[in-house]
Amino acid sequence: ELKENTVIVVLGASGDLAKKKTYPALFGLYRMGFLPTDVKIVGYARTKMDDAEYHKRITSYIKKPDGDAEFDEALNQFKAFSSYISGGYDDSESFQNLNAALEKIESGYKSKDRNRVFYLALPPSVFIPVAKHLKEQCHAPNGINRIIIEKPFGKDLESARELLSSVKEHWSEEETFRIDHYLGKEMVKNLLVLRFANVALNAAWDKNSISNVQITFKEPFGTEGRGGYFDEFGIIRDILQNHLMQVLSILTMERPVSFAAEDIRDEKVKVLRAIPPIEREDTLLGQYVGAHGKPGYLDDDTVPRNSNCPTYAATTLWIHNPRWEGVPFILKAGKALNEAKVEIRIQFKDVTQGIFKDIGRNELVMRIQPAEAVYLKLNTKTPGLHTRAIPTEMDLTYKRRFTDAKIPEAYESLILDALKGDHSNFVRNDELDVAWKIFTPILHWIDGHNGAKPTPVPYPYGSRGPKEVEPFISKYGFKRSQADN
Ligand code: BG6
Repeated sequence: ELKENTVIVVLGASGDLAKKKTYPALFGLYRMGFLPTDVKIVGYARTKMDDAEYHKRITSYIKKPDGDAEFDEALNQFKAFSSYISGGYDDSESFQNLNAALEKIESGYKSKDRNRVFYLALPPSVFIPVAKHLKEQCHAPNGINRIIIEKPFGKDLESARELLSSVKEHWSEEETFRIDHYLGKEMVKNLLVLRFANVALNAAWDKNSISNVQITFKEPFGTEGRGGYFDEFGIIRDILQNHLMQVLSILTMERPVSFAAEDIRDEKVKVLRAIPPIEREDTLLGQYVGAHGKPGYLDDDTVPRNSNCPTYAATTLWIHNPRWEGVPFILKAGKALNEAKVEIRIQFKDVTQGIFKDIGRNELVMRIQPAEAVYLKLNTKTPGLHTRAIPTEMDLTYKRRFTDAKIPEAYESLILDALKGDHSNFVRNDELDVAWKIFTPILHWIDGHNGAKPTPVPYPYGSRGPKEVEPFISKYGFKRSQADN
């Protein structure tokens, strides 16, 4: 655990990620008293700016809660220990400068230990040189050094391996923290507890009881302004290959021997290795078109004219192990849809025929966002003199049940873990490798590596997605119950 003498260096300090996520999370941790005592935060980026401009930028996404009397004072203190240095990303001299600046800041520390945490909020193009220079010029000789990096980790299996091994040349696995911010979300962390602390749930957690599983990500906005970045990656690399795969692996892994990071990650890798690469037939691709005054994906000037980049994808994965053989896992993600929602929906099998007709299936839904909830759809007797089943829900909505709970932001929780040196909620090298193996063939197909590129089906901005989705999921056995419509 890093208790004192710690400097957190945010590289890419003037960028979007830093402004929207990293700094607000650092401030949140500071306010909750979770940053090391005497911590210093140093921003680094190419932009030349003075501390006043830097402070303005890094606090632009930090909101003052109503009636928070101590907020202003806390924000001023936060600014007081946050400073900025500008420099390049690919020359030793800049990093020597950074190191000199760090040493100067650290000269105020009492003991000789120097702990440095480097947070790379950077575009992938400068990842490798920065990791190298940090190791060569800024690695503190006495103390703990850590590097936090974030996707995109490559574009396919080969480029990911290249990137990961270049980082590995300089930074050990112990020092490296690969963020997938979905692992910091409350409901994703809850999966371990829901699954392994409940005999009742655990007993039904296999192919004997479960018909199909959907993991769904929906966002109500398009790629406006980010089209240039997005077009190179597409929804599969942006959401499915990382965020939804992480959720899938925790949902389906066997019970880890302990809560230790390596035990958990061993089980995640094991289940991922039982998943063969996704087949084209198990894939549905979509791209949004303009509707209700909103622009289509191709209307964005930063997007190439005939881009076939999917902004929606549904893919079905199969797990070849005794627990899951034959159960379809449908991962769906889309931009510019009708709502913001991320959820896991486990649909159980039909009740044996004979005494009931047309009754709905049990479904266990874990809503990751917004408004965390777990609810189980079940059938109950209609109260009164009839003996008739009606569908109802057992509902654990966090806002109602845990009225005083403050749920941390994903980045708060993850940065705190990194400061403590806990790798449980970070992605291990080999996890990424298997996840890329599963997706690389369809990505290459979409990118036209082996012939004609597939054309995504259109769907209107603000809709529920392509109309083809409904038949796609029913093909895998999902049954919509009467009550859903
Ligand atoms: C990011 C993607 O990783 O996750 C974005 O690059 C996406 O495209 C974001 O909007 C979603 O994160 P969250 O926490 O808002 O669900």
